[in-house]
Amino acid sequence: MAGVYILGIESSCDETAASVVYAGERVVSNVVFSQIAAHQPYGGVVPELASREHLKAIVPVVRKALADAGQTYQSIDALAVTQGPGLAGALLVGIGYAKALAFALDKPLIAVNHLEGHIHAVLLEERQKNNRGMNFPVLALVVSGGHTHLYLAEERDQQWSYRNIGHTRDDAAGEAFDKVAKLLGLGYPGGPIIDNLSTHGDPAAVKFPPSQIKHRDRKDRSSKDGDEPRFDFSYSGIKTSVLRYVETHDMQASIDDRRKALAGVEKPKLEDYLLHCDKQTLNLVASFQRALIGDLTTKTLAAARACNAATLFVTGGVAANNELRQRFEQDAAMEGLPVYFPSRPLSTDNAAMIAAAAYPKFLTGDFAAMDFSAEAGMVLQ
Ligand code: KG4
Ligand code: ZN
Repeated sequence: MAGVYILGIESSCDETAASVVYAGERVVSNVVFSQIAAHQPYGGVVPELASREHLKAIVPVVRKALADAGQTYQSIDALAVTQGPGLAGALLVGIGYAKALAFALDKPLIAVNHLEGHIHAVLLEERQKNNRGMNFPVLALVVSGGHTHLYLAEERDQQWSYRNIGHTRDDAAGEAFDKVAKLLGLGYPGGPIIDNLSTHGDPAAVKFPPSQIKHRDRKDRSSKDGDEPRFDFSYSGIKTSVLRYVETHDMQASIDDRRKALAGVEKPKLEDYLLHCDKQTLNLVASFQRALIGDLTTKTLAAARACNAATLFVTGGVAANNELRQRFEQDAAMEGLPVYFPSRPLSTDNAAMIAAAAYPKFLTGDFAAMDFSAEAGMVLQ
């Protein structure tokens, strides 16, 4: 079907975003209002604060997305909104607003799983580059602040289905980046800071023990008899190892000094961080990143081999990481496996991915009933 403009709305965590996407394949506008400044003093996302910030931002963000696209409320064909997973209060702001708009405009509303959105960010941009020949099955690693999930994705007649074959048992990869940055007095969000600092340290300086998963996941009900191979992750151990290193190397006083010094800088730049980081800290940060990425790539490629994946997607906020991209490109090339990432702006949370994931649902008439609500723990299947 030609000429379908979908307005996507995303409010699952700390970004208020709206976007207009044409036919699931062209980003016409993409507005992201980041709440980082509001949460920074607390070193992480404060759910109450997130809901309040979404309330303030949602109307101007949607208006700007429509204006940037040269569209109006009346001219769009459908609305799409993130149903979950995410912070319940934050999700409700987007859902409430999208429902009201859809009702007032008498337009169809499509509920989208945020994780499906991250996967469709890759498809959207590949279509935009005119790459329409994806081979299936696709193995998608969704790696963000809240998730480290592996899905096998299939498509039949615009119906997408997903099978989870691995997830983190504790901290997500992005969460580990954020917690390590916080404990080292580097601020929030930790991923981009550690990404930039890592090139200034020696990644072989500190050795971390490999993460070990000994038990079956008791919460996992995806296979009844438990004989399907799983490719789970665990990142709370490496965070604890960083903490132990800090304790045994008496780094706390210099961390406190750094935290105080950086708190006085309004928007710290790389030079500011470097000014307040000694060699030992830079080495620790680089070694942490190398170890985490090594684990992510090794496990993901093992899963790809076991599942005979024909294509690999790596998406979500952590997919913006430079070393992660290089490592995946290198290792997947050695196995002859094509790997795709979203561009950096579409790796982190955005609404273009929500509008893109909604397009096949629009084509199949998979619209949301007006009584649907937020699902904080929504599962992708
Ligand atoms: O996808 P996203 O925007 O939100 C969630 O769905 O969670 O991901 C945010 C996460 C944060 O943990 C952030 O530290 C991490 O992505 N992140 C990065 C980078 N940019 C963002 N992690 C590593 N390297 C980066 N360059
Ligand atoms: Zn996300």
